[in-house]
Order: sequence, then C-alpha cells, then structure tokens
Amino acid sequence: MLNEVLDAFQPVTLNVYLDCTLGAGGHAAKIASAHPEMQMLLGIDLDPTAHVVAEPRIRAEAAGRSARLDVRLLRGNYRDLKRLLATVSTPSPRPNGILMDLGISSMQIDTADRGFSFMRDGPLDMRMDPTAALSAEEVLNTWSEAELGRIIRDFGEEKLWKVVARRIVQAREVAPIRTTQQLVKAVGQTQLVGKSPRKASAKGIHPATRTFQALRIAVNDELQKLEKTLPDAIDALAPGGRLAVISFHSLEDRIVKHAFMRAAGRPTPEEENLVYGQDNALETEANARARSAKLRILQKLPDKL
Ligand SMILES: C[S@@+](CC[C@H](N)C(=O)[O-])C[C@H]1O[C@@H](n2cnc3c(N)ncnc32)[C@H](O)[C@@H]1O
Repeated sequence: MLNEVLDAFQPVTLNVYLDCTLGAGGHAAKIASAHPEMQMLLGIDLDPTAHVVAEPRIRAEAAGRSARLDVRLLRGNYRDLKRLLATVSTPSPRPNGILMDLGISSMQIDTADRGFSFMRDGPLDMRMDPTAALSAEEVLNTWSEAELGRIIRDFGEEKLWKVVARRIVQAREVAPIRTTQQLVKAVGQTQLVGKSPRKASAKGIHPATRTFQALRIAVNDELQKLEKTLPDAIDALAPGGRLAVISFHSLEDRIVKHAFMRAAGRPTPEEENLVYGQDNALETEANARARSAKLRILQKLPDKL
C-alpha cells in the first residue's frame, strides 16, 4: 500500500504532514523523502514503542535533507487530534496531508506479550495503549455471554458468534482465560467451511481470527474512535489537502466511506463510487493489496475555485 499512498500525496504540496498512526514510521519516512518541500512532520501514536522505532528512522530522513524538517512525534490518541495539534503551535498547524493506516502494527502483532496474535502464546492484553484500563482478559472473563456474543458478531463478523460466546463462558467457568492459547482452545474448531473443499481452503482463516479481531476492536474502542476522528481530521486539513485512510476490514471501511460521503455532501450509499467536485470535498477510491486492505482518499477543495 506504500506506493498507492505515495501516489495519493504526490500531487499535493506537503508543507505540513500529519501521520495519525505513526507505527514504525515506515510511511512517514517514505512520504517525507518523496516531499522535499515538507517543513513539518507530525506523528501520533498511542503506543510508546512506535515512537522508539519511528523516531531514529524519521530523524535519519530529516538529517539527509538540505532544508530543515521540524519533526514532532506526539504520544496520544488520534481521537484527540485537534487537542494534540493545538499543543504544537498557535494557531494549530493545518496539515496538507493526513494519513491514517488503521489497525495494529507488525511490531504489535509480533510481540507475544501484547496478546494480539493467536499464533503466539502470550497474555490476553491487546491494549494498543499500554496505560489503558481495559484488557482482553478482563473482557473475556467479566463480560456477560450476551455482551461477548454482541462483540463477536458485530466486531468479528463471526457467523457462529453464539457458539463462540457459549464456549468462552463454558471455558471460563472451569478456569479464567488468561492466555491467547487458552482462548484459541476455548474457541475450538468453530469455522464454517464452504461446501466445496476449494472454497473452504481459499477462505482459509484460522477459527480464532474473528474472535481475536472482535476483542481487539472492543478493547481499543477502535470503531467509535475512528468515527469521531474522521470529521476532525477533515476539518483540520488545509484547503486543497488530502486525507488518506487505509482500512483492513469492512467495518472500518464502511465508517470511512460514510464519513467521506458526508463530507462531500452526498450521504447516499448508491452514489458511493462517484467523484464529487461541487461540494466541499472530493472522494476517490483505490483498490488494494492484501485480502481486505482498502485505501480511500479525500481531497478538501481549495478555498476559492
Ligand atoms: C498499521 S500501524 C501503522 C504502521 C505505519 N504506517 C508504518 O508505516 O510503520 C497502526 C498504528 O496505529 C496506532 N494506533 C491505532 N489506533 C490508534 C489511535 N486511536 N490513536 C493513535 N494511534 C493509534 C497503533 O498503535 C499502530 O502503531
């Protein structure tokens, strides 16, 4: 998705760039390198390990430039984007480009102790912000069967949500579920397989995939935060600026699509693939790389046309 993101920002004079999901700083460093005109790079992440990895990478990029690049890496939630921007300068900087690369980073998924992966044994944590109060362990062991069923259905889009919620409750009645592998065991072989073996293997997802996704979204309150942030990000953009959002599942993508359509003054789903130029924003869509990754780009029209 890196090339598509670079293409999205290519036509923009990116004096100020805001990365709302800094992660390891891969996108931020490459975007800075493609935009020698960049004067300020702002990076937000709620996970302090992101800053540790991203900072040297971005500083190295900045050091190789002829003009000064003001780098500000901010620890916080993108939900508080407006407040975070206000801490940088008065008036707040107006980014010409904003990127949101949603979901978890490979650093997070690869660290067993963070509990995001059903492939690695670790404590059921799943907090992107290690100072947050709610962990996956608490959700699994204290929420009611109905609440668990709701998140597994709504955030995991798991057809067998009732079965999975029941199994979790049965397992925790024997002993609290504390590790990723205990959860994998509790979920068991719950995946629906297609009628033809080819179809089933093409789907090929691990039976616990959807449950892990549901828990992660619930623990980090991801969808509500995204919904709240998008209008603020559009508002913060400088005229003519672009907002690019990479999403990894249909729940996120639906929120992005609707927020962009609302901003474009066209809230009807039937018109979703049109390009709008008459209201205050313009939406385009690019298809993506991986199984379900999508990139959506919104451009704020210049003040005067
Ligand atoms: C997919 S990774 C980004 C990877 C990054 N684009 C790169 O090139 O390395 C998503 C990052 O967003 C962060 N994140 C997720 N939700 C966030 C939120 N609400 N506020 C701030 N950061 C968030 C995660 O901690 C993670 O580091």
